Amino acid sequence: SRKRQVDETLAPFKLSQEQLQLVKATMRAGLEAGLKNKGPSAVKMLPSYVYHTPDGTEHGKYLALDLGGTNFRAMLVKFKKGLQNNTRLYHKIYTVPLEIMQGTGEELFDHLAQYVSDFLDYMGMKKAHLPAGFTFSFPCEQTAIDTGILVSWTKGFKATDCEGHDVVNLLREAIKRRNEYDLDIVAVVNDTVGTMMSCAYEDPQCEVGLIAGTGSNACYMEELKNIEKIRQKKQKTEGDEETPETSRMCINTEWGGLGDDGSLDDIITPFDAEVDHNSVNPGKQRFEKLTSGMYLGEIVREVLLDLTRGGLLFRGRVCGAVSRRAAELCGAGMAAVVDKIRENRGLDHLNVTVGVDGALYKLHPHFSGILQETTRVLAPQCNVTFLPSEEGSGKGAALITAVIDKYLYSMR
Ligand code: BG6
Ligand code: GLC
Repeated sequence: SRKRQVDETLAPFKLSQEQLQLVKATMRAGLEAGLKNKGPSAVKMLPSYVYHTPDGTEHGKYLALDLGGTNFRAMLVKFKKGLQNNTRLYHKIYTVPLEIMQGTGEELFDHLAQYVSDFLDYMGMKKAHLPAGFTFSFPCEQTAIDTGILVSWTKGFKATDCEGHDVVNLLREAIKRRNEYDLDIVAVVNDTVGTMMSCAYEDPQCEVGLIAGTGSNACYMEELKNIEKIRQKKQKTEGDEETPETSRMCINTEWGGLGDDGSLDDIITPFDAEVDHNSVNPGKQRFEKLTSGMYLGEIVREVLLDLTRGGLLFRGRVCGAVSRRAAELCGAGMAAVVDKIRENRGLDHLNVTVGVDGALYKLHPHFSGILQETTRVLAPQCNVTFLPSEEGSGKGAALITAVIDKYLYSMR
C-alpha cells in the first residue's frame, strides 16, 4: 500500500534506543579526542578563555555585538551589582543579506561596522568609546579572550579572506576604515558560550550552553587539567600550580563536526548524503546537518522529492520524522556532555542547567520536549534543566566584558 511505501522511505529516520546510545558514545569519544593535543579532530573542542560563570557583582555599561545564525544584533547592556533582574538592555537587529554572507570578508566586516554605526547613532552614543564584547557564532581558535582565528565558516557563510584570520582584527580594521567611532573590543565569544553566560547570570547551576537554531552546537565547563592544549601551554609559560579559581574553562565543543571522520555513517540516510552534497561545505558539519534548522527543511525536501517521484506525496509525516530525529540526536549529544561533567566531578548524580537558544528550540512545537526526554533517558544520573535564554547570547558577551573590565580596574 501507499502508506507502507511511505513508512519504508521514512524508516531510516527512526532511531532505536541502541542507536541513540551509540550516538551518545560516539559524541563522548569525540569530546575526549578533541581535548587531546593530537592535531585536528572532528569535534574541535575549542578553548574559550572563559574561566567562570558570572557571580552577580558585574556592573557598568557595555556594548555587545552578536553575529548569530541569521541576524546581527547590536546591544547596549547596563548591569547593576547584585541586581540581576535590574539589567537594562537596548538592542537593534539587522539582517545580513546573503550576498554579504557570501561576498568578500572586507564587505562583510564593513557591513558589521556600518550596523554598529547605525546603532550608536540610534543610542546617541557615537562619542562614548565603550568596551565591547563580540559574539561570533563560528568556530574560532583562541589563544586569549580577545583573539579568535576563524577555523572555517559554517551555516552557509563563505565570505572570502576570513578563514585563518583573527576576526577581532577584521572588525577593528573595518571600524578603523570608517574612522567615525571608537570601540574597545575586549572579548570574542561563541554564541553557545554567550548563551551559557547569560543564563548563568540568572541560574548559577548553568554550566552548559546549547544552540539549536540555524546551526547546532554546545559548550560546557571543563576541568583545565583535561584540556591538553591549554595545560601544555600553561606549563611552558608559567609552570605553576592551578589555583582553584581557575581550575575550569568553558570549552566550545563545535559538536556539529561530529561524523566528519565517518563515525556517523551508520545513521546517515541517502537523503542526508544528498543535502551534504548540495551544501557549501560538503563532508563538513555532518552532525549539524542532521540536527539544525538550516538543513532540516532541505532533508524534508529531498524526501518529498523522492516520494513525489514514486507518486507518493504525503507531507504531514515526513516533517515529524526528520525533526524528531534531530531532537533525539541533540539529546544524545547533550547526554554525553552532562555525563562527562558528572564523571569529571566524580559524582553519582549531577544537577545541571543548560542555557539554550535558537529558533529550532524556541519555535518548533515538539523539538524541546523530545530533546529533554531523550536527554533524561540517556543520562539517567543527571537532572538536566533547560533554561531558554531571554535576550540572546549578546548579554553573555557583555557579562564577559564586564568581568574583564572589573579585573582591569582592580589592576589599575
Ligand atoms: C540568538 C543569539 O538569540 O540565537 C545568537 O543571540 C545565536 O548568538 C542565535 O547565534 C541562534 O539562533 P538562530 O536560530 O538564529 O540560529
Ligand atoms: C555552527 C557554528 C558554531 C555555532 C553554531 C550555532 O555550528 O560552527 O560555532 O555555535 O553554529 O550557531
